[in-house]
Amino acid sequence: MKAKKLTGEKAAEYIEDGMVIGLGTGSTAYYAIKKVGEMVRNGLKVKAVPTSKETAELAAAEGIELVELANVEALDLTIDGADEVDPDFNLIKGGGGALLREKIVASATDKLIIVVDESKMVENLGAFPLPVEVTPFSWQYTQRMIEKFSCSSEIRKEDGEIFVTDNDNYILDCNFGKIEDPVKIAVELNKLPGVVENGIFAEMAEIVVVGYNDGHVEVLEK
Ligand code: 5RP
Repeated sequence: MKAKKLTGEKAAEYIEDGMVIGLGTGSTAYYAIKKVGEMVRNGLKVKAVPTSKETAELAAAEGIELVELANVEALDLTIDGADEVDPDFNLIKGGGGALLREKIVASATDKLIIVVDESKMVENLGAFPLPVEVTPFSWQYTQRMIEKFSCSSEIRKEDGEIFVTDNDNYILDCNFGKIEDPVKIAVELNKLPGVVENGIFAEMAEIVVVGYNDGHVEVLEK
């Protein structure tokens, strides 16, 4: 909790007046959004693109002006969380189910700042099951195709029901074990019919802000 708050608030220091920013999703991005809200109430002028309905609601409640991606050329920076970060800043995202919008917003962003607590820093991606967003129409077929990559997978459920994303899709949580080549897996997965997007964010993050439980924060730059 403390580490997440520290890292979220530290990342908000990169925001400057007049910027268009992307706001991530999850319990760490939450603290960045709360901090941006405070800065806005103190006079900061920013416009923000949210990466989920949950974030849109939180940001609006904080008084942050929201804009649609359709109405902006590019974003100056985005602050988002991650489920795993490797030493090359490759990420697994999607634990919160918002990976599709998060990846679109990240790709439209000049600077992607990732906020994590120390538990998310790993040598290799893959201990956290990789979320893959799939179309409901063909999810069992797509699951069989994905499992040809030697992984097991489970359809994500919430309260006993299949979890539905903000884009009305489903998520398969895929257990690859150690992912040796994240770029390759990301490309191969997206070639499969029915795969909408996968949670590997390769070579996208520029800054990783790591919060530690002892109260210090480390800023890692590419
Ligand atoms: C949501 C995400 C989140 O950023 C990721 O799951 C990390 O969340 P948290 O900060 O709550 O641990 O990718 O789709």
